[in-house]
Amino acid sequence: MSSSPAQRRPFFCGNWKLNGSIAESLALATEVRNGVATLRNADVVVAPSFTALHAVAKRLEDGPVAVSAQDCHFEDKGAFTGEVSAPQLADVGCKYVILGHSERRQLFGELDAAVNLKARAALRAGLSPIICVGETLAERDAGETLGRVQAQLDAAIAGMTDADLGRCLVAYEPVWAIGTGRTATPGQAQEVHAFIRASVARRSGVAPTLRILYGGSMKPDNVRALMSEADVDGGLVGGASLQAESFARMVKEGS
Ligand code: 13P
Repeated sequence: MSSSPAQRRPFFCGNWKLNGSIAESLALATEVRNGVATLRNADVVVAPSFTALHAVAKRLEDGPVAVSAQDCHFEDKGAFTGEVSAPQLADVGCKYVILGHSERRQLFGELDAAVNLKARAALRAGLSPIICVGETLAERDAGETLGRVQAQLDAAIAGMTDADLGRCLVAYEPVWAIGTGRTATPGQAQEVHAFIRASVARRSGVAPTLRILYGGSMKPDNVRALMSEADVDGGLVGGASLQAESFARMVKEGS
């Protein structure tokens, strides 16, 4: 399908994964806020660990940088020891939640169906889900990339209305590119991003405005080439988001 990047504001989220004390997270958040202070043409988000969310959200309150969590539970409350609910995330000041990250799928056995339940919980709580999809190296080598991405996407957005979908973002993160230094080529990313947009277009009118992020060893020196592709609308950034200077530089290069 045809798409126009002009309809979609660049979006960059730093996924800090399991890193940082409260003090370290506050320092990083403050540096990111200062680093992007003059930037007007992109949405910038940071995703600290649960323990730092409240402090970071307070620090960034009323500024241009929003806060995301890295996961949530699919029930709003109850006997679910150790879990954190979407309403609790909204309560501490989150606007977004990353869901279905490959580390959750691979290391913690998260299933496609759970991603859907979590996304619906996030939407109920007023959060925007950042839904992650992506193939493993074995799946890519077996020619199963698009089929795998389709299955993950279909499951994650099952039962959503257009209004729901309009509040979601999708992140394409090829598992083989995460934390490996091996980035998908712009062409590889574009192929999957266009496929995702076309797939959403078959079921919803929101496809032209859906922001599809790339994740996997995105850095200041490759962001421009990736962002030059028609359907790459931003990044979900791990390692390079842990240093404010490189994250801010990447956001500027890519916006
Ligand atoms: P890296 O940028 O470290 O490859 O991580 C990507 C990622 O998993 C973001 O969610």
